[in-house]
Amino acid sequence: MKRILLAVSGGIAAYKAIDLTSKLTQAGYEVRVMLTENAQEFVTPLAFQAISRNPVYTNTFKEENPAEIQHVALGDWADAIVVAPATANLIAKLSNGIADDMITSTLLATETPTFIAPAMNVHMYENNRTQHNMAVLKSDGYQFLEPGEGYLACGYVAKGRMEEPLQILTRLETFFNEEPVTNHTHSSFAGKRALVTAGPTIEELDPVRYLSNHSSGKIGYALSEALADRGAKVTLVSGPTHLAQPEHANIEVIQVQSAEEMFEAVKSKYKQIDIVFKAAAVSDYTPAEALTHKLKKQDGELAVTFKRTPDILKYLGEHKTHQYLVGFAAETQHITEYAQQKLQKKNANVIIANNVGDKSIGFSSDDNDYTMHFANQEVIALGKDTKISLAAKILDALETRWQ
Ligand code: PMT
Repeated sequence: MKRILLAVSGGIAAYKAIDLTSKLTQAGYEVRVMLTENAQEFVTPLAFQAISRNPVYTNTFKEENPAEIQHVALGDWADAIVVAPATANLIAKLSNGIADDMITSTLLATETPTFIAPAMNVHMYENNRTQHNMAVLKSDGYQFLEPGEGYLACGYVAKGRMEEPLQILTRLETFFNEEPVTNHTHSSFAGKRALVTAGPTIEELDPVRYLSNHSSGKIGYALSEALADRGAKVTLVSGPTHLAQPEHANIEVIQVQSAEEMFEAVKSKYKQIDIVFKAAAVSDYTPAEALTHKLKKQDGELAVTFKRTPDILKYLGEHKTHQYLVGFAAETQHITEYAQQKLQKKNANVIIANNVGDKSIGFSSDDNDYTMHFANQEVIALGKDTKISLAAKILDALETRWQ
């Protein structure tokens, strides 16, 4: 039985922590709860004690077992720690190494993987100080369960709602089901050749106008860096993006513009490649005729004829010899159904689906929420996270599955 230490700080979302305790307990986890003094203004220790059937910890100095120091023993006891809700104040303390109560002392004294679910007013969340504190914690290895958008207790409808208990549970399940690859010298990607496509394509109508999409290239670049860190030799075929060129010695970048150019670049490398990640948002259509002179405006409507671009992933699926193919599916509805269809149609080994209808994730955003659909019907929900963390999670999931 896995052990979760839940740290609840003082925000109105503390009521959701009761539901989270219930969901974790029902899912078979052993849960122990710590509350800050402020959290007890919203919820009582008794509620958590009744649901977790374990003692609740509120005071660093209430040492009941002389054989141990509680704020050290609790962190050691847990397989994972979840701070939910994490207020701006708690995040600030943790980021600055302050340990002035049960929760902050425990967090400072532990090396146990820790998940943080912020919840606060949108202005507090967006405040530079809070953003800085979160960035520090992220770079220190804390994992964030990003807050969602919606109705906040302060009356705003904005970002700041604590992640839903079910999503937190899913994230923990993913965490426990996957053996993290900590030693990358033993990665199954080490020494392999990977090809990643990223960003949008641009399909020119004339020298000034074009058809494109909102892809920023962030997930493709994050995957390239993560693969290179694990020792893979990466070819990154990138459409036009505003991202800095990766400087990793293991990454070769080929810049392209149109779907046709991306197709040619991918084809030229494909034979030597072991694994392909088709993260690019390739335009499905291109103007039937690309004009060499600027199209002059006229009165009335303009009709443009588009023709299909090559379906690169489909081509790769049809010409597969030994390559492992990871495709993506950007959908706005029937996500699972369409992802399954793409698996078959494109002869891919995995399709990673995302809902691009949700503006808080997907295109351009730093975050996404991916689900991996494997050809053997296995499905892994990675949950909502930063694209950098998701790139690592995708590779963690593939480490033992792709060869
Ligand atoms: O770049 P970001 O801002 O980080 O955004 C990430 C993303 C939303 C672009 C990414 O998560 C994503 O979903 N990428 C795939 C977008 C897409 O084109 O999906 P699709 O469902 O239209 O295509 C399915 C698959 O076929 C994709 O792997 C795509 O690369 C590939 N394809 C599509 C059309 C085409 N002509 N050739 C292709 O190879």
